[in-house]
Amino acid sequence: MRNRIQSGWVALAFCLASAAPLAAQGLPAGVTKESIAKGDEIFHGSGLCFACHGNDAKGAVGPNLTDDQWLHSKGSYDEIVKQVMTGVPKEISKSGNIMPPKGGSSISDDEVKLVAAYVWSLSHKTS
Ligand code: HEC
Repeated sequence: MRNRIQSGWVALAFCLASAAPLAAQGLPAGVTKESIAKGDEIFHGSGLCFACHGNDAKGAVGPNLTDDQWLHSKGSYDEIVKQVMTGVPKEISKSGNIMPPKGGSSISDDEVKLVAAYVWSLSHKTS
């Protein structure tokens, strides 16, 4: 019985390791250096993020996105994608300032993922 449980864990660990080759480089699944670079352009362009978070993303009307302090999540890539999709309505805003969905911009859902990759990279070192 004990052996069966142990080999189950070994199989599970093997699956996780082979399913996530990107994790070895420190990037979350779905994030690449290219998506981070495109997200940088969107942040400072059509996504309008710079208008509230500042050109350096260190905060203005909206909070600093370069530190490890997160107001609304733990700052994982998936959480950032969701946050940008829904924005921050008044009911949950900590500062009283709101963020409209997608920052009020007309970027596509795919562009939200790119800009989220950039935002994620600001507070996470990659190799
Ligand atoms: C109209 C101003 C405005 C724009 C434009 C805007 N934001 Fe925000 N953002 C805010 C405010 C305000 C908050 C949350 C404030 C609070 O809760 O006190 C916020 C919160 C966030 C958070 C959560 C931060 C945390 O600490 O949990 C993320 C991530 C974020 N914005 C990313 C973006 C991205 C990416 C864009 C561009 C697509 C964008 N924002 C555009 C104002 C804006």
